[in-house]
Amino acid sequence: MVAAMSPALETMMLAFSGDGELPERALFLGAEAHDGLREWGDLTGWQPFKPKADVWDAAGFSRSDGLPAGRWPVVLVLPGKSKEETLVWFAAARDRLEAGGRLVVAMPNSAGAGRFEKELRKATGGVESLQKHKCRAFSAVDDGTWDESVFAAWRELGGRRVVEGTHFVTEAGVFSCGHVDSGSRLLAGHLPGNLRGSVADLGAGWGVLADTVLRNCGKVERVDLYEADARALDCARENLAEFGGRAGFHWLDVAAGVPGEYDAVVMNPPFHVGQATDVGLGRAFLTSAAGCLRTGGRLFLVANRQLPYEAALDGLGMSWRQLAEDATFKVILADKRR
Ligand SMILES: C[S@@+](CC[C@H](N)C(=O)[O-])C[C@H]1O[C@@H](n2cnc3c(N)ncnc32)[C@H](O)[C@@H]1O
Repeated sequence: MVAAMSPALETMMLAFSGDGELPERALFLGAEAHDGLREWGDLTGWQPFKPKADVWDAAGFSRSDGLPAGRWPVVLVLPGKSKEETLVWFAAARDRLEAGGRLVVAMPNSAGAGRFEKELRKATGGVESLQKHKCRAFSAVDDGTWDESVFAAWRELGGRRVVEGTHFVTEAGVFSCGHVDSGSRLLAGHLPGNLRGSVADLGAGWGVLADTVLRNCGKVERVDLYEADARALDCARENLAEFGGRAGFHWLDVAAGVPGEYDAVVMNPPFHVGQATDVGLGRAFLTSAAGCLRTGGRLFLVANRQLPYEAALDGLGMSWRQLAEDATFKVILADKRR
């Protein structure tokens, strides 16, 4: 039994609740588990976000690590957060749809479902749409009249791009894909050059903090990057290729704990889940950081000024001090005493 299911997924399932037969073969981009999917035939999921991929796997569904090649009669899409990412996923879905196949999308209204339905209609001419649970599910059947130039333009939004003024590459949908995050920039400017030994970068994104450590701290033997978004981690692999074996890459849900023992941890923890603010996720990152530091190890973190992480550090028995702040962010250094 799958525990919590998203309202968008519930709405998507309604698009298959009529008298028609359930799909015999389907591909699910942004796959999330649902008990109703157990009755489907051959279903393949792709999910770049590790906590969701873990739930999908635990429910016993089949998953592809990368975007799979092939064509399916039904392609489902539960898009991510950004506009570009959503359009890129529409194009990816189109590229994997058999002639005559059905593309089905579901999104919360608060994520712009109405707007994206209109976008899809630009390419497909018409869509069928239903609304429930403050979400929309909309679908279109490839009848041979779709405007491929619209999909081509969306396809162009995908792939690697260079962050202006840097050597870093990113892609649509990953955190801060167009620039170095200002919080991370503040933290990078306050990381000392005397770090040594092994360092963990928690929620490493496309690798900007790990790059700073590897570049500036010659006595650091290795930085392990832990990141839930497989696409960001792939960008980090490319961004840090010059450091060879000094960089390690791990697709992991940091909130569930981090293996190993480190001399230092650097992080700009996430605090948004979907559209809601969730300080609990940041606190779970602090607990995991404390858990993987050696006694005497140091945690360098940046956070929005209003986030109450100091009390959490106290609760974890870490002594801390603020190293810097600006109008938006604060940089904290915490020591693991025992
Ligand atoms: C604020 S961003 C910082 C990214 C990167 N360190 C930087 O400075 O640009 C937080 C990162 O945590 C990742 N993340 C979110 N939830 C996670 C989880 N449960 N486990 C691991 N990483 C997670 C996000 O994908 C995102 O890349």
